[in-house]
Amino acid sequence: MTRVRAFALLLAVLLPGPARAEEPGSGPLRFFRPADLLRFGVFYYPEQWPRDEWKRDLDRIGRLGFDFTHVGEFAWTQLEPADGRFDFAWLDEILALAGRAGLEVVLCTPSLCPPAWMGEKHPEIYLVGSDGRRREHGNRANASVTNPIYLAHLDRIVERLAERYGRDPRVLGWQIDNEPLATPDYSASSGAAFQAWLRARYGTIDRLNEAWGGAFWSLRYDRFEQVVLPNDDAGNEDKTSPHAVLDYRRYTADATAAFLDRQAAILRRHLRPEQWITTNYTNVSEGSDARRTRQLDFPSFTIYPVAGANRLGGQSFRYGNPTRMAEALDFHRPITGVTGVMELQPGQVNWAPVNPLPAPGAVRMWILHALGGGASFVSTYRYRHPRFGSELYHDGIVGTDGVTLTQGGREFVQAIADVKRLRPEATPGDPLPPGLRARRTALLWSHDVMWDLENHRETTRWDTWRHRTVFTAAVKSTAAPLDFVFERDDLAAYPFVVAPAYQLVDDALVRKWRAYADAGGHLVLTCRTGQKDPRGQLPEGPWAGSIAPLIGARVTAFDTLPEGVTGTVRSGGKTHAWSTWADLLEPEPGTEVLATYADQFYAGTAAAVTRRLGKGSVTYVGVETATGDLERELVRDVYRRAGVAVEDLPKGAYLQWRDGLWVGVNYGNDPASFPVPSGARVILGTNPLPPAQALVWKE
Ligand code: GAL
Repeated sequence: MTRVRAFALLLAVLLPGPARAEEPGSGPLRFFRPADLLRFGVFYYPEQWPRDEWKRDLDRIGRLGFDFTHVGEFAWTQLEPADGRFDFAWLDEILALAGRAGLEVVLCTPSLCPPAWMGEKHPEIYLVGSDGRRREHGNRANASVTNPIYLAHLDRIVERLAERYGRDPRVLGWQIDNEPLATPDYSASSGAAFQAWLRARYGTIDRLNEAWGGAFWSLRYDRFEQVVLPNDDAGNEDKTSPHAVLDYRRYTADATAAFLDRQAAILRRHLRPEQWITTNYTNVSEGSDARRTRQLDFPSFTIYPVAGANRLGGQSFRYGNPTRMAEALDFHRPITGVTGVMELQPGQVNWAPVNPLPAPGAVRMWILHALGGGASFVSTYRYRHPRFGSELYHDGIVGTDGVTLTQGGREFVQAIADVKRLRPEATPGDPLPPGLRARRTALLWSHDVMWDLENHRETTRWDTWRHRTVFTAAVKSTAAPLDFVFERDDLAAYPFVVAPAYQLVDDALVRKWRAYADAGGHLVLTCRTGQKDPRGQLPEGPWAGSIAPLIGARVTAFDTLPEGVTGTVRSGGKTHAWSTWADLLEPEPGTEVLATYADQFYAGTAAAVTRRLGKGSVTYVGVETATGDLERELVRDVYRRAGVAVEDLPKGAYLQWRDGLWVGVNYGNDPASFPVPSGARVILGTNPLPPAQALVWKE
């Protein structure tokens, strides 16, 4: 065996796990007929409405063209009005009415809302916040996911639901819990679970002490039973051990994943194979990590785009956060090859700091954006505008009278008609056009890295999400298909890989990156990459030393600037302001400098570099600029240098290809021009495309 082959074999064993995406018709893809493109759902809460309105409402939902309704996620007290006394009659009736209205049903486990009787008997079921206060009845998401009494009650209700509805042909699938957030929990049961998690991870207390830096400030422990839950909100001026905090985030995400998997495993024992199991993560979730569950068929997500800032000027605040839908699709879809939007804002919401009216067209644009990005369904929260409870100002598909369609309701109806029109035009099974395949890009993403960056930001001006969105937006401006991938994924299908601020690295990852470039891949790394090991410690050696041979430069220092101060960086004759982060680079011979700091005492120092490596290249962007324009240019140059043609879409414009259809959307304040080839047939919309609109064409 040659050394190269032996090395390749070693890499194959050590590193890239199989990508989890499935072949059409197998695995999770079997749940959705490709020819349907997108199916539509709507949340209905029968427990909130008079019984004599149920039939009217469900019939109407069916007539509007929805495929399914979604019920039961918060209804534990209606399903189990007293300990061990169950009432399924109302849910049976809803299923019957839905079935007669031509609707399928998504059922839920009610784990988010333990009934009052449970807390009254067992107050220890509630989670304890970082302020030491125990949550109580009166809100949702208040239980400890590690509390054995709560879990025993939960197992029982999930089992009952699964036994009763798991073989029901009207039931399409199941949503577990609701928006699992992985809220930090300081209860006694969480403490015990954390100790068990640590014991499994480290085996001996000495290893834990080493990983957590126990020699610092006398922090070492004698036994696992001594370990307390790291609490960085406890009012200390100094930071709690960052290594302990990082492990606590990991544990919390694992505990949440185990909580979801536990419910899924119970369901699975009873479900017919056609019923799917998912949960609805919040777009790209921060606390929980969709990649940590093992028992779900696919992750879905919830999205409320208008609550996010849209800084593209003018009325763009009414079009929604320009990166949220794109990132949520590209994050969730590659995990098992299937995703769907479980909740999409139908209009105004009630919970953002301010809640402007979405622009006419925005709701329909979001739906078509989801279609272009490969979603299998879009479901909306909720059918009726609530008349009581915490979400009084929240729009529905119909208004407070229960019958009049809202603006968003009308746009859902329009989008349902649009998709009917697109179905006969689509050509499912067509391979990705070669021009797109040539620019397929992976974004390497790790929640662990994000947690460590956020815990130790070093400057209050650092925002890990913002940093990432600058790079996803840059990639999307080329119309490259983008997949978020994990460290263990195979990168071979991706000619381009971007790893933003990938701070925690080990030797294996650096070797994987090098092998990727050697084989012809083009790798983009950004500031803060490679500074720490996976424990969050600084390796002994030069700063970011492990990546120096890869990027062909040394990171000699980094800089951050106080509020109100900006520095400048020059590239290609243009000057850009920066203030968040600047890695100072010293290139090796053969490494090309792409950008240079233009002021501060280190003016003339390199800020971004690139080099050929093997058959590929490595580019390091060491600065985060105020507008992200420099990063956008540098990323676009990577494709150009590799000889790959790319589009130049304006900010806020997205172009995606799906099943033979090109789908463009525009979150920008100005009309956006899309590269519609002559001879192509426009099916929906106009080019240039006005804001908050969608364009679909076929070549
Ligand atoms: C979501 C949540 C829903 C509902 C909605 C209101 O985050 O999952 O249950 O509260 O917000 O916009």
